Amino acid sequence: MKVMVVGGGAREHTLVWKLSLSKKVKQIFVAPGNAGTARTAVNLDMSPTNLDAVVRAAKENKIDLVVVGPEAPLAAGLVDKLQSLGILAFGPTKEATLIESSKVFAKQLMHKYGIPCAKDAVFTSFQEAEACVKKQPVPMVIKADGLAAGKGAIVAQSVDEALMALSDIMEKRVFGDAGNQVLVEECLVGRETSLLAFTDGITVVPLVTARDYKRAFDRDVGPNTGGMGCYSPSTFLDKKSRDRAIKTIIEPVVKAMAQEGKSYKGVLYAGLMLTKDGPKVLEFNARFGDPETQVQLPLLKTDLLDIMMAVIDGNLAQTRVEWSEGACVGVVMASGGYPGSYKQGFPITGLDKVDPDILIFHAGTKSDGRKVCTAGGRVLTVVATGKSVAEAREKVYLNLPHINFENCHYRKDIAAEEG
Ligand code: AMP
Ligand code: GLY
Repeated sequence: MKVMVVGGGAREHTLVWKLSLSKKVKQIFVAPGNAGTARTAVNLDMSPTNLDAVVRAAKENKIDLVVVGPEAPLAAGLVDKLQSLGILAFGPTKEATLIESSKVFAKQLMHKYGIPCAKDAVFTSFQEAEACVKKQPVPMVIKADGLAAGKGAIVAQSVDEALMALSDIMEKRVFGDAGNQVLVEECLVGRETSLLAFTDGITVVPLVTARDYKRAFDRDVGPNTGGMGCYSPSTFLDKKSRDRAIKTIIEPVVKAMAQEGKSYKGVLYAGLMLTKDGPKVLEFNARFGDPETQVQLPLLKTDLLDIMMAVIDGNLAQTRVEWSEGACVGVVMASGGYPGSYKQGFPITGLDKVDPDILIFHAGTKSDGRKVCTAGGRVLTVVATGKSVAEAREKVYLNLPHINFENCHYRKDIAAEEG
């Protein structure tokens, strides 16, 4: 098969790498990819949200299967467009992606079907939202309805902070139309974790668990980022809690989406709070996680293409999905200054100096044919596998110093509490 992966981050590089290990995959294209994907795949210079360009490229290159990484093209209807042309696509349709692209839709669905989540109120008027916020206990959570690159939820510690968030979203419109509706939510207390599952719209097959680190600096301080590292399996979510979350959250939501005529096929990502009353949903994502993918797929023993085809064909119940017993740790190397402003264009050295079993997944990188340079905030995810999390962690941190670029920053404490 000829496969095309849409996206240009380390998640997409990991998808390219894993798919390239399938005997059934003849050639891979990536839109747009990065310097890492260019080694095994053909990079196509286009934005993932330029649907016409992506669809045209899929037709021109006679692609059999398109795998969509990020949420924006899913929410814009890329999968629907491809399907209407008879091109197979892995990922939910535009309507099914509402579970991520509209937090109001997701909450209404959960309330209707009794899926555990935070209490909330929805507003379209600033004055009404303001009146509600003034009566709420703190902390409370203010959320923009639509996609906001992970920045649309504000946990407000005071009424003033909540009012400021409301004003930013509804008056200053910092997230544009994504702020047409706002949720004021009860603040849930507990340990946060994520749970991902493949689903063909009926059968649910969980991925190995993973824990990501969102804050920029060690000991979880500093601003939120797209993710600075990850390890798998997560000791946060034991088998009992995981099975409970599958039964009370993932399976019912997949059933609910089908009943609503929005059958969900692809990977469903649930952000959960493990409260004293059991797991509750913080949010859903309609895609693989980043950096979760970088530590989950190295542990997948089954051919990823077979799983994707089973999801598309509705055969997941007949497919065995196997994970290795080991563990995996991934550390993100970022440009100093990220997630704020940073400089790019620095040469990256030592990519060939790491141990042969270390995996390097590129994100913001560019190659001029001779050298690889930084070209974004998150530059690489460096990944090691081992018998235990502690072993994988030791390996990855022994190898990281070999790789270098000016003003490089990475966390030193990824998976540290697992030691
Ligand atoms: P979201 O984009 O909805 O996942 O929110 C981003 C982050 O905000 C989550 O990872 C949580 O840390 C926090 N958060 C969101 N909703 C709540 C809530 N209801 N209670 C407590 N924390 C929340
Ligand atoms: N790691 C968080 C996300 O992919 O949304």
